[in-house]
Amino acid sequence: MSEKKQQVSRRQFLNYTLTGLGGFMAAGLMMPMVRMAVDPVLQESSAGDMANVGISVDELTTEPQRVDWTVEQVDGWYTSEVSRSAWVFIDENDEIQAFSPICKHLGCVVSWEGSEEYPNEFFCPCHNGRYYKDGTNVPGTPPLAPLDVYEMKVENGMLFLGEPVPREEA
Ligand code: FES
Repeated sequence: MSEKKQQVSRRQFLNYTLTGLGGFMAAGLMMPMVRMAVDPVLQESSAGDMANVGISVDELTTEPQRVDWTVEQVDGWYTSEVSRSAWVFIDENDEIQAFSPICKHLGCVVSWEGSEEYPNEFFCPCHNGRYYKDGTNVPGTPPLAPLDVYEMKVENGMLFLGEPVPREEA
């Protein structure tokens, strides 16, 4: 009698089999969706990468010069080319400087000696913002912080720049 209790009926067998098969198929369908949702999060960020900006350190002088380059930006599944710029030069301590051209007031683009009135300074035309050559903001002008400084490295004589970093974090 106890032997009979342990027997699985045809109906039960079908139920177990179909439930198992259904679960297996559901898992198979869900895996690609889960992977697609999570994949960009798991991918290594390229934010820390530095780009060759196309200028050798031998070409740098004490006069700030603007360099422009593009980086590939990945946003989820969307990849785009983003333009970057920097003012680069050799300072009085013989060190390479690379400043972001983005004004710390409202984000306009600053130029070296952009105003004849203020030689030897970075100038922002939007609201007459001014920065000394070392990138610090001139007191009494709209910008309230120094220009950001790019992360940098030199490899095979070429200048590589990364992300612009606010000075208080640099
Ligand atoms: S945005 Fe540069 S001074 Fe206002």
